[in-house]
Amino acid sequence: MLFDAPDFDAHEAVHFATDTATGLQTIIAVHSTHLGPAAGGCRWWTYADDAAALTDALRLSRGMSYKNAMAGLPMGGGKAVILKGAPKTQTFLQAFGRVIDGLGGRYVTAEDVGMSDADMTMIAGATKYVSGLPVAGGQAGGNPGPSTAEGIFVGMRAAVSHKLGRSDFTGVHVAVQGLGSVGGSLARKLAAAGAKLTLADIDSARAAALATELGATYAANDEIMTVAADVFSPNALGAVLTADSIAALNVAVVAGAANNQLAQPGDGARLTARGILYAPDYVINAGGIINVVAEYLGQGDAASVAASIARIEGRLADIFAEADASNRPTDEVADAMARKLIGR
Ligand code: NAI
Repeated sequence: MLFDAPDFDAHEAVHFATDTATGLQTIIAVHSTHLGPAAGGCRWWTYADDAAALTDALRLSRGMSYKNAMAGLPMGGGKAVILKGAPKTQTFLQAFGRVIDGLGGRYVTAEDVGMSDADMTMIAGATKYVSGLPVAGGQAGGNPGPSTAEGIFVGMRAAVSHKLGRSDFTGVHVAVQGLGSVGGSLARKLAAAGAKLTLADIDSARAAALATELGATYAANDEIMTVAADVFSPNALGAVLTADSIAALNVAVVAGAANNQLAQPGDGARLTARGILYAPDYVINAGGIINVVAEYLGQGDAASVAASIARIEGRLADIFAEADASNRPTDEVADAMARKLIGR
């Protein structure tokens, strides 16, 4: 069930833990500690079954190894999933904190889908191996969304430069899917930089309100992936790039924050075959983890974090150049670079 699971990638350890008093059920996957403690957020989610939760933990933890390595962080990759069911009370979160504490620092948690900085504060009551806590102004850390959006902004600029030969966003048309913590912040940055925006969110009132605020247009949720634009930016769910959706894309660049955007291994090659430049998700969306790791290591103020996030632009430019030179899809180039860094 585990060693032959399709997404098992010689993970160093996979921990299954329960707490009967609070109803906690969690899976913590440690993919690699080659570069340092396995860092990656905790997802609180309703899964169809246990196997789906395990798959998520395995895939996401491997992605964190790649993401942290490519971001130049002294951290390995891990991820926790909590199976949604019992109420997420203080005692529940502290039980989760005790599970993390029992791993002795091999795994360090942070926010992911369904978890907030207030949740991290409660977890911190039971373990020191936690980041993404609320911080005072000027310090690294806190909600990673705006940092992630900054990384997407500079990474998209690298893609637009490489593919369209444009050095700025003036008049560049970006279709943004998902307007939450990352997508909303990104849309504001792009609007300020002169981009033309088409916005969509499953919460159509949110899309309409932001479009009014930014002087943008908004599209129906099921149309945003076929809008004729320069860039498609997925900032909602993963696995949105499928054989069918790639065939219907009407853009030159895909650059967004969602994790695991490619539904199948061959989807990067499909994008390349269509002449669409894909910014590998875990490279472009590293801004948030750069911020929370700086906080965790006690190594940074906001200015040094900003400088580190700015390096995403050059890193992507290198990947794009290498992909051109070797005639390979960008995701394969990035995966090969990441695996080399983690000694695989
Ligand atoms: P969020 O929960 O704040 O926002 C997600 C937005 O997408 C919401 O406005 C929601 O209504 C919308 N949405 C949900 N399903 C949708 C659908 N089917 N079509 C269109 N819109 C839909 O999440 P956040 O933090 O902005 O993250 C966005 C994505 O980026 C997620 O995939 C997340 O895993 C990824 N990510 C986030 C990071 C962060 O720092 N917050 C870091 C790295 C990746």
